[in-house]
Amino acid sequence: MKNFKQSKLLQTLPKQFFASLVEKSGKVVAEGHDVINLGQGNPDQPTPQHIVQSMQNAVLKPQHHKYAPFRGHDFLKEAVAAFYKREYDVVLNPATEIAVLFGGKAGLVELPVCLLNEGDTVLVPDPGYPDYLSGVALAKANMEVMPLEEKNNFLPNYQNISESVLKDAKLMFLNYPNNPTGAMATAAFFEETVELANKNNICVVHDFAYGAIGFEGNRPISFLQTAGAKNVGVEIYTLSKTYNMAGWRVGFAVGNASVIEAINLLQDHLYVSLFSSIQEAAATALLDSQHCVDELVEMYEERRNVLVNGLKEIGWDVNAPQGSFFAWLKVPNGYTSESFSDYLLENAHIVVAPGIGFGSYGEGYVRVGLLTSTERLQEAVDRIKKLQLFS
Ligand SMILES: Cc1ncc(COP(=O)(O)O)c(C=O)c1O
Repeated sequence: MKNFKQSKLLQTLPKQFFASLVEKSGKVVAEGHDVINLGQGNPDQPTPQHIVQSMQNAVLKPQHHKYAPFRGHDFLKEAVAAFYKREYDVVLNPATEIAVLFGGKAGLVELPVCLLNEGDTVLVPDPGYPDYLSGVALAKANMEVMPLEEKNNFLPNYQNISESVLKDAKLMFLNYPNNPTGAMATAAFFEETVELANKNNICVVHDFAYGAIGFEGNRPISFLQTAGAKNVGVEIYTLSKTYNMAGWRVGFAVGNASVIEAINLLQDHLYVSLFSSIQEAAATALLDSQHCVDELVEMYEERRNVLVNGLKEIGWDVNAPQGSFFAWLKVPNGYTSESFSDYLLENAHIVVAPGIGFGSYGEGYVRVGLLTSTERLQEAVDRIKKLQLFS
């Protein structure tokens, strides 16, 4: 069989850091150990029943078996507009300010290809969601990192970005509630962002994947709630986390009409649109009772409290996340993020994600997912206690 060589472009795609983690944990599972996997970001709960039911009904409609309209059904875009008005008091024009996406990841990877030319500069948070780098590579763009440090509440410090980088920057990724740090943005930070973006002609892409998940009654704010935000950027929302629909692949981009048009144009050439039944179920999720979302956030908060309080009790000085479903924990002295992850896997059969996999400023931390029951999280705390790392 001929072995066809991958294009030079594909060869520039970043290596999947977490593939080695999956392999290492797979070995420990194969040895027969009871592994607690806190390393991944896959929601563990099923999609709420009324959304599944909506899909079941929709599948029976013959009109949904045809091609869906290019750029998505009006009923879905109108549902998105109603959702943004209801949740954030943000007014969107369904025809020009909303693009339907095959999940948030697709939009995030498409955007650099839509807006950048070879050699253009993109500002990317470090630590950050690794898939931002995939789009940057496909666009052959140049990346500058914005460190997210604990002393700044994991918000980038714009004062530290040089004038020349700001002059070259065309695109900036932000993500709050933040993966991996669990930090939240403030209104003042978003105002500063709009000002910076306006001054330097930077398009802001706010990844709002964890938009529904804020703790202690603190609701995450939408970037589009900031005055002038639509002028400088877009927000990417996904149904994956809010409604446990990660497998369904549905999300949307909202905001600046020229950016929405660019996404739609690229997607005209790549796809037709999502399966109409998925679009119908997505509209149901956005428009029906949000009780399931309240219950989900309550569940994550309870898990967060079990984990964080448990770790504090055994002497690990950890901070509770403000939002998202991740905790970002400092590793004990003497370990790197990777050596500590390996240590936990080998000695406690617990998988966590080493911070270095999210960028160099992730060194010294591990990311722990809240995607298993309180009993399993308590079991993880008990296993860590036995290692006597903090006594
Ligand atoms: C920060 C962040 N953005 C975007 C996504 C993409 O989610 P999806 O492609 O399922 O919409 C994820 C998923 O893990 C994420 O953590």
